[in-house]
Amino acid sequence: MEPKTKADPTIIVIFGATGDLTWRKLIPAIYNLYLDHWIPENFYVMGVGRGGLSEAQFHKKLNEGVDKFSRRGKSKKKEWDAFARYLTYYQGEFGDNTTYDHIKKQIQQLEKRWKVPVNCIFYMAVPPQFFNVIATKIGNAGLARDKKMSRIVLEKPFGHDLESAKNLNTLLHNLFDECQIYRIDHYLGKETVQNILAFRFANAMFEPIWNRNYIEHVQITVSEQLGVENRGNYYETAGALRDMIQNHILQLLCLISMEPPVSFNADEIRNRKVDVLNALRKFRPEDVHKFAVRGQYGEGWILGKKVKSYRQEPDVNKNSNKETFAAIKLYIDNWRWQGVPFYLRTGKRMNESITVITIQFRPVPHQSFPTEATGNWQPNRLVLNIQPHMGIRLQFQAKQPGLEMLLYPVDMLFNYSESYTSGTPEAYETLLLDIMRGDSTLFMRADQVEAAWDILMPIINLWEKNPSVNFPNYAAGTQGPQDGEAIIAADGHNWIVMPLVKNDKEQKKSTKGLQHD
Ligand code: BG6
Repeated sequence: MEPKTKADPTIIVIFGATGDLTWRKLIPAIYNLYLDHWIPENFYVMGVGRGGLSEAQFHKKLNEGVDKFSRRGKSKKKEWDAFARYLTYYQGEFGDNTTYDHIKKQIQQLEKRWKVPVNCIFYMAVPPQFFNVIATKIGNAGLARDKKMSRIVLEKPFGHDLESAKNLNTLLHNLFDECQIYRIDHYLGKETVQNILAFRFANAMFEPIWNRNYIEHVQITVSEQLGVENRGNYYETAGALRDMIQNHILQLLCLISMEPPVSFNADEIRNRKVDVLNALRKFRPEDVHKFAVRGQYGEGWILGKKVKSYRQEPDVNKNSNKETFAAIKLYIDNWRWQGVPFYLRTGKRMNESITVITIQFRPVPHQSFPTEATGNWQPNRLVLNIQPHMGIRLQFQAKQPGLEMLLYPVDMLFNYSESYTSGTPEAYETLLLDIMRGDSTLFMRADQVEAAWDILMPIINLWEKNPSVNFPNYAAGTQGPQDGEAIIAADGHNWIVMPLVKNDKEQKKSTKGLQHD
């Protein structure tokens, strides 16, 4: 990971410039980088799309996106106008050579004007069926020749399964060096996700207890209240396992469980992460039912509003077998983690939107307090709140004030919003700046993507071959199917979702509400 400096002169070519990702995420992120003075003076964004938009219409659409989605809220006219001079639009087909001739000409003209070689970033903000053709055309046009200055960025999904991911990697490696390929997992750009590395490796006190001797189990929950919205077409080919676990959640698992890196070098960090993926215990097909459960939402209530079942969503098959909830239990077969279960779960249309990692520690080796003192005993837990509120909470036992020795769980809290007043960059700001600067630490390497697919393939194959007989099996607005509880209850635990609490009053309330293991 390099110290952050401004990027060299840069051209970003966005394929899919009229699409949702460009509008919602990419341009608001680039705009904020501009306002924060990270954008080089010599800079150019060329949107390429199939829609017939004039330059003015393109700017207007992007400005609306910024007003709606930028973390800074509505843009100021003067600032937007100054930024918009960097943005241009080209209507072209992705499979048409003239599109790439045009891009090449533009790059040559800018290099001539700026009198320096420029970073050329080709951003695929397009559905995956276009990856092959765009990458091939870029390669054939000679636009990928400069290994240092030319980069290609791919959004997920990267492949549909292990085989297609391998094929895509082979195609890309025929055209680009691995160091030119940036596979995005936007979770890795989130502030709190990056903080996992800081928390683990910038503090001496956690490392000695960060292992099977002290940690009983680890839970990762990524629950969303949102349904599939207007993404039925995509989701029908994906499901929760492919959409969230193969990428975001396995990456969180890697950050929590990787060995300390020797340096903050991109390959060193990624080597340590891929070690974890390679050490994950493989599922035997006959055991999948013991380690993985699936669910699909039916009708229900979210925030007081009645919502449809998954099968009633637009573009979804009325008898769909796609899972909108998945929970799995994994083991990492290495010295540090042998025997420690890692429980992962994710779901759409759940009762709350929260991403949280809970590390539960083993009990003290000998309980010396009288039984009456420990009525409220709870294990030590470290809770990393990723979103919506960012923070870290350590739960431990303390003596309750009074004449008797009564123990009560209390919290030590680190709350980002209380500790820092500066605005937190969005994940895409971090990731785009890293791409411009050529730092690939937070991006997925080919072997990581393949290892992540490899581990999930037995579950994917089994679920696809054997449609569920009880879908839908959870009502929207609940914690998912009963099987999701059973997978963790079987080991004597329960899912713990402790939202970040802000003050004493809330803390007491929330501590009282906690369940015992
Ligand atoms: C995307 C998934 O990768 O991540 C979506 O395709 C999901 O289904 C989204 O809603 C969640 O991202 P975030 O940043 O809102 O947690």
